[in-house]
Amino acid sequence: MKINLVPDPIHSLPGDAAVLVAFEGQSGGPAGKFLEELAASREFTGKLFDTALLHWPEGFAARRLLLVGGGKPEQFSLRLLRQAAGVAVRVLKGKGCREAAMALPELLAGAPAVSAWVEGAMLGQWEPDRHKSEREDSTALEALAVAGAGAGAELEAAAARGRAIAEAQNFARELGNEPSNRLPPLELARQARELASRCGLDCEVLDQDRMRQMGMGALLGVAQGSAEPPALIVLRYRPERATTSDHLGLLGKGVTFDSGGLSIKPADGMEKMKYDMAGGAAVLGAMQALAQLKPPLAVTALIPAVENMTGSRAQRPGDIVTTLSGKTVEVLNTDAEGRLILADALTYARQLGCTHLVDAATLTGAVVVALGHLRVGVFSNHDAFQARVLAAADAEGERMWALPMDDDYKESLKSAFADVSNVGGRWAGAITAAIFLKEFAQDTPWVHLDIAGTAWQDEAKPYAAKGPTGVGVRTLVRLAADWV
Ligand code: BES
Ligand code: ZN
Ligand code: ZN
Repeated sequence: MKINLVPDPIHSLPGDAAVLVAFEGQSGGPAGKFLEELAASREFTGKLFDTALLHWPEGFAARRLLLVGGGKPEQFSLRLLRQAAGVAVRVLKGKGCREAAMALPELLAGAPAVSAWVEGAMLGQWEPDRHKSEREDSTALEALAVAGAGAGAELEAAAARGRAIAEAQNFARELGNEPSNRLPPLELARQARELASRCGLDCEVLDQDRMRQMGMGALLGVAQGSAEPPALIVLRYRPERATTSDHLGLLGKGVTFDSGGLSIKPADGMEKMKYDMAGGAAVLGAMQALAQLKPPLAVTALIPAVENMTGSRAQRPGDIVTTLSGKTVEVLNTDAEGRLILADALTYARQLGCTHLVDAATLTGAVVVALGHLRVGVFSNHDAFQARVLAAADAEGERMWALPMDDDYKESLKSAFADVSNVGGRWAGAITAAIFLKEFAQDTPWVHLDIAGTAWQDEAKPYAAKGPTGVGVRTLVRLAADWV
């Protein structure tokens, strides 16, 4: 999608459509006379994400005028602005529009609004149709003018930033949508290598032999039930001139399919476990954006990639594995595999010298019970670092919520036969999973994002297609890009 910032007022721009956000109770503005009529007939009242499409609107150079409801002006935010842009694109591409102009609402102008607008438009454009013979690409919006935004280097940079972030998030969605037969661990590793050479990052992939030599028994235990070999993907971004000795480690769960292993999952819904690598995808997306935004700190990405299967070599409930850290784990449930692979990745990240760690993982069904599909569960061993991650999420409109991490929860992970068990019983499952990871983060400041409920949406939203959401990308990028 071509994006142009133009100083001209929206009504003067030609093209297939002009887009305006209109709020509840609004009467003025360039579309004032239409708003009064539409409100009188209750056809359109500015309710959030309602739309009205007018043809040959008087006083506009464009062939159509699309009004997108912004809801109550006092509740409007960058997050809703981003989504409103997505709504507009999804309506227009269904009507064969190729060129559109959109005007930012006066309520929210300036660089952050330009970024959010561009992001929302590009996120709205995305479809999970890679494997359909007739792709909806044919109806995609080709050019978008952002009207009345003014021009200048700051706004151009904001638009470029928005593009970089949306492309990164859409890349993560593309990976999350790939079925497991087309994206086994080695293919994820190949994609990472390709990304690295495209973006000028360093990429190293540890294979099974290497991991065996190093002693990553927890990761290899999960992998051994599958014919698909595992990979530990390591991507490095190094700034030309670092302004800090901090070294951020980004970790992402990369289970390309989670059958549950011998503690097998029910058939109903198992097909969705292709997105159990959404954390890894979010980290890859974030690295792509960071390679473009070039923050002044070292960032290392680690993605343990495995397939959790039931082959004849599969690990059994009751097996005891030795992790890279030396701690032993009794595998009481082979379906709690994410924490096993992340345990070794966390230890390795610390060995590589990371001073701060953030992981993203579709880790537990329990986080979906706790927070539904709305908010990411956040867990940490370090209040101040957690606050920074939450602030980054807030600035990016990714909704998250911190859950407690009292030491007492550790009781439930006791094993009779090993140092720790990989499951913590029936209650507080999202927390006990995080407590397990904390054992391996040790005293390094660490934040865990459980994205099991938020990485996939079962229904399309007015601003986004059904399927993978790419959640986490924007928060990780913001955290690294605004590092102080
Ligand atoms: N990948 C799942 C978690 C998950 C559930 C992701 C739903 C997305 C949607 C994870 O590996 C898992 O199976 N966790 C178990 C842990 C349990 C055995 C302690 C779970 O949540 O049931
Ligand atoms: Zn599992
Ligand atoms: Zn899993």
